[in-house]
Amino acid sequence: MNKIPYGRQNIDQKDIDAVVSTLQSDYLTQGPKVKEFESKFAEYVGSNYAVAVNNATSGLHLSVLALNLSKGERVITTPITFAASANCVRYAGAEVWFADIDPNTYLLDINSVKKLVESKPKGFFKGIIPVDFAGLPVNMEDFRDFADNHDLWIIEDACHAPGGYFIDSKEDKNFCGNGNYSDIGVFSFHPVKHIACGEGGMLTTNSKELYKKLMLLRTHGITKENMDENHGNWYYEMIALGFNYRLTDFQSALGITQLAKNENGVERRNEISANYKKEFLGKVKFQDLPTGTYNAHHLFIIEVEHRKKLYDFLHSKGILAQIHYVPVHTLPYYKNIGYSEANLSNAENYYSKCISLPMYPTLSDEDQEFIIEHVNQFVNG
Ligand SMILES: Cc1ncc(COP(=O)(O)O)c(C=O)c1O
Repeated sequence: MNKIPYGRQNIDQKDIDAVVSTLQSDYLTQGPKVKEFESKFAEYVGSNYAVAVNNATSGLHLSVLALNLSKGERVITTPITFAASANCVRYAGAEVWFADIDPNTYLLDINSVKKLVESKPKGFFKGIIPVDFAGLPVNMEDFRDFADNHDLWIIEDACHAPGGYFIDSKEDKNFCGNGNYSDIGVFSFHPVKHIACGEGGMLTTNSKELYKKLMLLRTHGITKENMDENHGNWYYEMIALGFNYRLTDFQSALGITQLAKNENGVERRNEISANYKKEFLGKVKFQDLPTGTYNAHHLFIIEVEHRKKLYDFLHSKGILAQIHYVPVHTLPYYKNIGYSEANLSNAENYYSKCISLPMYPTLSDEDQEFIIEHVNQFVNG
């Protein structure tokens, strides 16, 4: 049986040639391809700086550290995301607080965040981690205005959304992770995402200070900045406790060729989404698209009653639909540290009905028709 996954990388001969040529070069890691990938990525999203990392989880970890998150402090995120968006807060010994999602966009609901923040004294929370869930950009301008009034930093988890944008009140296009409204943007290059490096990630920022901290922490906290005439080129200083969270040169070579295809890839994803919407309009609920927003469509999600039955039915036909996500606060780790009482009814209601249909640029029209036919068959009973 032909199996149709929910997401899939798109590797062509150019990608393969780029990796092979880097394997034959002098550098497998810490060479020119990392820098080239960083500068092309920064240019693509419109940020001043980009820092390549070995995956987005490491990137989230570096981000909270660069923003000085400390033990016992508190950060707000969404329950409808991959666990890594919340786990980074725990890595710093801090507390995760969940606000609810908007039931129509599935994004972190700013009103729920406001209610939570305003129920506590100023300084209680340190930051917010909104997620451009499924590829739909968060209106980061709204979050920034609110965050500024409450001294909160913002990490934009843009893992699902390279190439997505929203139009701000000045009529400017803001690509996800461009750093105009968030302090740091985080991207993932896992193969189900838009840009595949095997594993990989990118951090973007407009702050030189944050950029320098991220670079330092990515490589063990080591700097060569304080060299003087008494020392040779061997000399380095370790000035902070950092990590080895580097991306290799051959992965960066792949990232560069993958990035070059992203604009077309996102266009194709939007074509696929338009087709799903045309076929499902009035039959099943799907993610709202706020005016002035371009969804990068990592996922295409519908909500149905009897979701498990649809999941089993589609899988029996070789359509490998997936569920995104089990709400983070209901995962055993989080339950065990006290989240079992959390009242996040929009998130839980969404989770009871959501199912992600196949969405990737190389999904053929025939395969999409096959998927639509079977979803309709199920929905029509
Ligand atoms: C929203 C979100 N944040 C973070 C991550 C972590 O990315 P990585 O697998 O590159 O560590 C993922 C990966 O699935 C994700 O979907």
